[in-house]
Amino acid sequence: MPEINVDFNRPVVVGNELEYMKQAIENGHISGDGPFTKKCHAFLENELGVPKALLTTSCTHALEMSAILLDIQPGDEVIIPDFTFVSTVNAFVLRGAKPVFVDVRWDTLNLDESRLEEAVTYRTKAIVPVHYAGVGCEMDSVMDIARRHNISVVEDNAHGLFAKYKGEYLGTFGSMASQSFHETKNFTSGEGGALLINDPVLVERAEIIREKGTNRARFFRGQVDKYTWVDIGSSYLPSDILAAFLFAQFEQRQKIQLHRKQVWEIYATGLRDWAGKYNVRLPCVPEHCEQSYHMFYLLLPTLELRQKLIAYLRERGVYSVFHYLPLHLSDMGQRFGGMPGDYPVTEHVSDQLIRLPFHNALTSTEQEQVIDLIHEFLF
Ligand SMILES: Cc1ncc(COP(=O)(O)O)c(C=O)c1O
Repeated sequence: MPEINVDFNRPVVVGNELEYMKQAIENGHISGDGPFTKKCHAFLENELGVPKALLTTSCTHALEMSAILLDIQPGDEVIIPDFTFVSTVNAFVLRGAKPVFVDVRWDTLNLDESRLEEAVTYRTKAIVPVHYAGVGCEMDSVMDIARRHNISVVEDNAHGLFAKYKGEYLGTFGSMASQSFHETKNFTSGEGGALLINDPVLVERAEIIREKGTNRARFFRGQVDKYTWVDIGSSYLPSDILAAFLFAQFEQRQKIQLHRKQVWEIYATGLRDWAGKYNVRLPCVPEHCEQSYHMFYLLLPTLELRQKLIAYLRERGVYSVFHYLPLHLSDMGQRFGGMPGDYPVTEHVSDQLIRLPFHNALTSTEQEQVIDLIHEFLF
């Protein structure tokens, strides 16, 4: 048997990354908002049709910017799915918000829109749907509830760049959306993110918050003759060296997405029968959703089997991982009153889920090794 070593994730150069990073240095502009950052902004704005895209140092920071832009104040409530990364909630808690969790759907693991309205109170300031695995939340319902109660929507689209819900790109529904370019994502700059702004009223203040609370962006455009402190803010803009890396990845959009689609389909085809036989669930992608092919996961019948499969694969050189722990049961979540049993679907799927190796250099041979090992796993 060949020696197996299949990484869970492996960041790789897919095009002109190194050449563009060299160019960024030769341009003499390696701080933020240089020529490559502008190219990334234009790319995202043109491809997605959003009024404004701003690169940030992470998706976490894009979410923090959105919380400042919505003027979240102590006592405000923000509705968040219980099954998500800590940054989705932390960005709002940092501003003093109280998180109100909503359980997720059994099928897509996205915020359960049928439980959303009961979580709304007069204090609700924002709803933050997370498009898990780049499969769209039920945005018709989410937007309808938000409109009727006059609540802002910020889409956490860390996983879902270029995915669609009913023909519209994810990230174009809420007043804002956050993207991640962390090394595990389809398109990466190591660490990185973007804030997409769909409500033009927010653009000017977003530029200020991103530039340490100054109107430096206006100064650089020649709209004011000096720049100064005008609002709260921080340093949320990435170096142009990182933007150069990211732009090279954007240029390979078709190649990256095609490869990831093939990876996803090889897993789905290779594991469908096995999953049916052992009561294992595969990802669910509703017909009206075009996914981003960000990840492939399995939902094992029990926690014990999930742990056993992760250990079994690891002993054989295949690295698979679990994903989010229920937020309400975390140390912080319990401080906000979270109790076992509050969000049963999240508690269940969090125990069951295993993510298989998935990256831009994964080969079909490696995938066959993973699939063969899973077929040989003893339940
Ligand atoms: C749903 C979600 N939101 C936000 C983040 C944070 O992204 P970043 O590492 O770019 O800050 C992650 C991380 O993977 C995530 O899964």
